[in-house]
Amino acid sequence: MLLPGNGIGRDYRRGTKSDEAVAIEEGIDLTLTAGLIGGSAYDKTGSPYPEETQQLAKKADAILLGAVGGPQYDALPPSLRPEVGGILALRKDLNLYANLRPIKTYPALACASSLKVDVLDGTDLLIVRELTGGIYFGPKRREDRNGIETAIDEMVYDREEIARIAKIAFKAAEGRNKKLTSVDKANVLETSRLWREVVTEMAADHPDVAVDHLYVDNCAMQLIREPKRFDVILTENTFGDILSDLAGEIAGSLGMLPSASLNGDFGLFEPSHGSAPDIAGKNIANPIAAILSAAMLFRYSLKEEKAAKRIEDAVEKVIEAGWRTADIVYDDQPIGTDEMTEKILSAL
Ligand code: IPM
Ligand code: MG
Repeated sequence: MLLPGNGIGRDYRRGTKSDEAVAIEEGIDLTLTAGLIGGSAYDKTGSPYPEETQQLAKKADAILLGAVGGPQYDALPPSLRPEVGGILALRKDLNLYANLRPIKTYPALACASSLKVDVLDGTDLLIVRELTGGIYFGPKRREDRNGIETAIDEMVYDREEIARIAKIAFKAAEGRNKKLTSVDKANVLETSRLWREVVTEMAADHPDVAVDHLYVDNCAMQLIREPKRFDVILTENTFGDILSDLAGEIAGSLGMLPSASLNGDFGLFEPSHGSAPDIAGKNIANPIAAILSAAMLFRYSLKEEKAAKRIEDAVEKVIEAGWRTADIVYDDQPIGTDEMTEKILSAL
């Protein structure tokens, strides 16, 4: 199922041609349906996650999403906003608790990052972000406290929620370099203390994985100081949101970061970036995060590793050939969204 959403999500529509191309050549019988989510859904139906989208999403094998959000929706009540009422509702409704955000550096892109080339070089890490709990979904309210307007967001995690996401992270580490860094704020937060207890208990059952624990503030620093020290980072929802934007700079641009939000084999695949209203509709956004998200869709939901690899190789070829959108350009002329898509299609 395709959910372009709004903002730059709509600029990527040509990108789905790459999925069709790969599917045809690999003999995968792909049936695409499209639906509305976020701002465009609100504009057309009055709901950012309409009933029809809910029904279709539940019938799909996997979902490819563009982006949601925008300043024109900021004044709406939360349940009608593209973020809370759209994408967060979708994640919760489909129980997509495991968000995987791989961060990989392309040697040819090292100059695009504000970090030093030798710091970045060879970084290959995976952020495993819990996606359906924490402050995002905890009780929220406003109240009057002694005449002062007060806002409250509660951070809630139970043992089972922590254990199921930790299980995904341990498994990922076992398939990679067997190093797991669990990130929390256990010096201050009770949820983090439980988080650390659960991960520590599980570490005993995974003697092959080297586990360490970092406070989130320290992790932010270590990520830009020595990103190579990381293999798998496991963290809760809000910390993962913040750390993954930061890690985007390691890859040269957030426009390079795909993501998978999984519940078993079923998944929603979306770029790690937002709707970028300032550049939407201008044909300048980088479609690579969205195209690499499609590669993850083939890998995780459809179990078509060869198709996934072909898309990733095509992206790499185009990067190596020097083609750049504005966000990753260094000392050259950028190309637009459609042209970048065409380059990737021809490389396929
Ligand atoms: C992300 C985004 C979303 C999030 C927004 C759009 C609600 O920033 O996927 O990282 O905070 O999870
Ligand atoms: Mg984010």
